Amino acid sequence: MSRAFLGSGSLELNINMNYSTIKAIHGDFTGKDILSLTQFSLQDIQTVLKKADAMRKLADNNTPSDALKGFVVSLLFFEPSSRTFSSFCSAAQRLGAGTIEIRDPHNVSSIAKGETLEDTMHTLQSYSEAIIIRHPEVGAIMKAAEVSSVPVINAGEGVDEHPTQALLDIYTIKETFKRLENLHIIFFGELAHYRPVNSLAKALALFPKMKLSFVSPKEVKLNEKVRDYLQQKNVHFGEYNDIDTVIADADVLYVTRVKKEFIPASLYKKIQGLYAVDNKMANKMKKSSIIMHPLPRAGEIKEEVDSNPRAVYLRSQMRYGLYVRMALLGLVLGKL
Ligand code: NCD
Repeated sequence: MSRAFLGSGSLELNINMNYSTIKAIHGDFTGKDILSLTQFSLQDIQTVLKKADAMRKLADNNTPSDALKGFVVSLLFFEPSSRTFSSFCSAAQRLGAGTIEIRDPHNVSSIAKGETLEDTMHTLQSYSEAIIIRHPEVGAIMKAAEVSSVPVINAGEGVDEHPTQALLDIYTIKETFKRLENLHIIFFGELAHYRPVNSLAKALALFPKMKLSFVSPKEVKLNEKVRDYLQQKNVHFGEYNDIDTVIADADVLYVTRVKKEFIPASLYKKIQGLYAVDNKMANKMKKSSIIMHPLPRAGEIKEEVDSNPRAVYLRSQMRYGLYVRMALLGLVLGKL
């Protein structure tokens, strides 16, 4: 990931792009790429949640599983990652699969010698049955999926989507409230370049009676195309500058990091630190509410909040990523 991507046109959100690879799941995950939340119906999400429950039992009991024995999963990460990378590795290994782990391909793979992403895909599909990719450029993973003969999973693409994060976020919300309807979710902070927001908002749009509030500095409001998407789907949502307007009514406060690597330095300086959660703010929320963050954080949730009973970001939210990614791998490889 580098600033070279700034100004290259790659920040364009590709919701309306028509890649032949983006196929609706329609109840059948086997062999499908997982590229965007728009592939999922409510029923498809329910399938992932149900399988994640089964995976939870396996993982929590350290039950050996051979579900993916004989399979190898490749991880190709062009951007830094802690949770997504580790949880996918852990998920594959817990199901008996091997892993090929390429972090920083610009330095450690033949991409350093000028090899294209397309040729890299031909290489990895020769050695593995699924390829998980994180990439800073919007459209890169879609293109990779078009050349790949094995399923490709989007592990975060530029400023566009992060579908597996959204699925684990949905699992977190379902586990907490024991329902996926009639909830009020606030998205808080830098929203314009934050891919988990785009994917999660689209996921929530599938569920009944959800209310979404987007609270951000005016320079980094919700992406216009996601706004259009929510309008098309008749989702009840509002946009605000001041969190006090909505906080007391919220069930979920979903906090975001300012995506320093995707915005000009002057904008970063202007907005960093403006939208932050401390206990004073957290305690205005209902007792039953939760505070989520995909992490990493960079000051937008004060450490004092970590011990607030509402805080789930360092606890269940992270762990649930393991169950959901186990479920997804098993499903796309046709073994669950
Ligand atoms: C997020 C991402 O990569 O989009 N992290 C994650 O996967 N948990 C958020 C971020 O980069 O800050």
